[in-house]
Amino acid sequence: MDDRLNDLLRRMTLEEKVAQLLQLAAPFFRGAEDEGQITGPLEGLGLAEAHVRNSGSVLGLTGAAQVIAVQDAHLKSNRLGIPLLVMADIVHGYRTIFPVPLGIGCSWDLAGAEESARIAAKEAAAAGVHVTFAPMVDLVRDPRWGRVMESTGEDPYLNAEFARAFVRGFQGQDLARETDRVAACVKHFAAYGAAEAGRDYNTVDLSERQLREFYLPGYKAALDEGCEMVMTAFNTVDGIPATGNRRLMRKLLREEWGFDGVLISDWGALKELIPHGVAADEAEAARLAIQAGVDIEMMTSCYVHHLKALIEAGEVEERLVDEAVLRILRLKEKLGLFDNPYRGADPEREREVVYSDAHRRASRELAAKSCVLLKNEGGLLPLAREQRVALIGPFARSGDILGPWSWLGSRDDAVRLHDGMAARAADPGRIAVADGCGVDEAATEAQLREAMDAARDADVIVLALGERSEMSGEAGSRADIRLPQAQLDLVARLKALGKPMAAVLFNGRPLDLHGVADQADAVLEAWFPGSEGGAAVADLLYGAARPSGRLTMSFPYAVGQVPVYYNAYNTGRPKDAPDAQVRYVSQYLDIPNEPLYPFGYGLGYTSFAYGEAKLSAAEMSAETPLAVTVQVTNEGDAPGEEVVQLYVRDLAGEVVRPVKELKAFRKISLEPGETAQVTFELTEPQLRYYHADCTHASDAGAFLAYVGPNSRDAVGLAFRLIK
Ligand code: GLC
Repeated sequence: MDDRLNDLLRRMTLEEKVAQLLQLAAPFFRGAEDEGQITGPLEGLGLAEAHVRNSGSVLGLTGAAQVIAVQDAHLKSNRLGIPLLVMADIVHGYRTIFPVPLGIGCSWDLAGAEESARIAAKEAAAAGVHVTFAPMVDLVRDPRWGRVMESTGEDPYLNAEFARAFVRGFQGQDLARETDRVAACVKHFAAYGAAEAGRDYNTVDLSERQLREFYLPGYKAALDEGCEMVMTAFNTVDGIPATGNRRLMRKLLREEWGFDGVLISDWGALKELIPHGVAADEAEAARLAIQAGVDIEMMTSCYVHHLKALIEAGEVEERLVDEAVLRILRLKEKLGLFDNPYRGADPEREREVVYSDAHRRASRELAAKSCVLLKNEGGLLPLAREQRVALIGPFARSGDILGPWSWLGSRDDAVRLHDGMAARAADPGRIAVADGCGVDEAATEAQLREAMDAARDADVIVLALGERSEMSGEAGSRADIRLPQAQLDLVARLKALGKPMAAVLFNGRPLDLHGVADQADAVLEAWFPGSEGGAAVADLLYGAARPSGRLTMSFPYAVGQVPVYYNAYNTGRPKDAPDAQVRYVSQYLDIPNEPLYPFGYGLGYTSFAYGEAKLSAAEMSAETPLAVTVQVTNEGDAPGEEVVQLYVRDLAGEVVRPVKELKAFRKISLEPGETAQVTFELTEPQLRYYHADCTHASDAGAFLAYVGPNSRDAVGLAFRLIK
């Protein structure tokens, strides 16, 4: 491969090589539907036609016919006939939208996650996309940050497992042969989720150890699974913005991890080295980024305006540009673009596969698995199909349930909760529906009247509450993470009627549920459940599907607790120590330390009893793993799924160690009265951690193994690792 590509490289002029590093949005390209609509930030790029005809990739272009037209025009204008890479944000579905990744994470269903990515790739590839800007694997601990909806949560092990699953689903085994797959681009490298105060694009400042222990495993897992691309994060890492951070990109990503794929800057992140304050001008930004190993500059033009002069002035070695171009050409070769520049783009196939019934069924199934039943007093749920229900709230009939990054999805086509319930109820006429208020606009008299009328004759009230998509996602940070006051007022008014109430939540982050969880008898977290969301939620409400989701991100008791996460350190004055003093311990005076709902937590329509967990021995070693066995019984009278979780605690490390760390899980289905025996094998590598000098190793000593239904209600068993 490289001979052919090196030959092509040799025939390229310096201008053509530099332009190959440029990625532009669709309007720059002939044949695009929005061709020429160069507005806003696009105008300021100062690009000439030569820059466009020599550019290497386009983002945000989809649609088989359109991609074929743009590629055709490009091949005719590019002197050497080098095809464009077509990239887009296909994060949780292309046209068939799946739950947001935080919801998919709560399904604990790796096969389901992989299938969702395979389906997304199949639709996107038929529409002409070559690369998706996904998976996003940023570990998150701060629900004020709007992009927690894109992550699978607060645990490094679980994030790594989902990262692998998404990469497998997107890429398959052979991108050249499987033209219904797309190359994946893991993002955002690194630690974008650790933005201070949950404010997007804000400073990230972590120790190298914290970075390696918690934030890096997701990216590394994606790359170990063969992920073709990496995207830089907007934020600083140890004082240097990722996009210009040679230590992070050259030393760690490329040298230590051996990643030789394409590294792309996030949108504008290369030029943002200037406002960050590490580059005096665009020329310096270009130099920093190319020296850090950034291959593609997304939507700014520092490279094309300055790299040639920097090379001619001897400030940048031309070989850095050659390396970058070669990596891009190699990806094009891997995708088979030199043989077939249209790859999977096929209008006929696009009509056949995009938004197919099979894909929508898959979305509905995964959405049902992604919802988390947080409360169900008195077994209010599931509803009987004959019950008279008042469905009240701004999300009762809303199509805004796809969530951010659902770009080709259609809110108009989305199955609304009312639609879903009407299809499940014995008689749709027994469901009275009302908005009750706006998402964050106070109820009008008419809305209130409609809501009270709907509630009057109902046996049960189902509240449909939540956040608008725009209150989540990129640049969607919120300092107050309660539901909007208008909705809390509506809940209070309806509570006064004294009828049983179930609250369904459509939102993109763990919320402070004061005013909801304490008012409703049942709470079902639906996240942004996607194109079939209303049907999936209705399936759960009426028991046609059973809730099996478990939280992968803690729900804080209040925003003042944030960041709150299960795998925290014990401190020297833990509040729950047996000999803890009343005051001088690590605590708040006004709220508990514990989150309202912890990592791993979720209910079903039945109950499970855990027998006494047993260890195969009191000691383990690198040669002799430890078996941890537990019996789980479905004690209820309905079938159910349980996520049995294995955690470990290292009681004395060279550095402080988390009070619990998830090491394995098993999602099992049990009929009423059925008992399953679950055995986990714990091996020495699973006990390794980053020491003070960042070496990764295990220590002999005392540990606890916990098995249970979540990170809180698990019993610890002592064992030792011997060396
Ligand atoms: C955005 C996001 C990134 C996305 C890119 C292209 O700013 O940070 O996740 O892939 O731009 O849309």
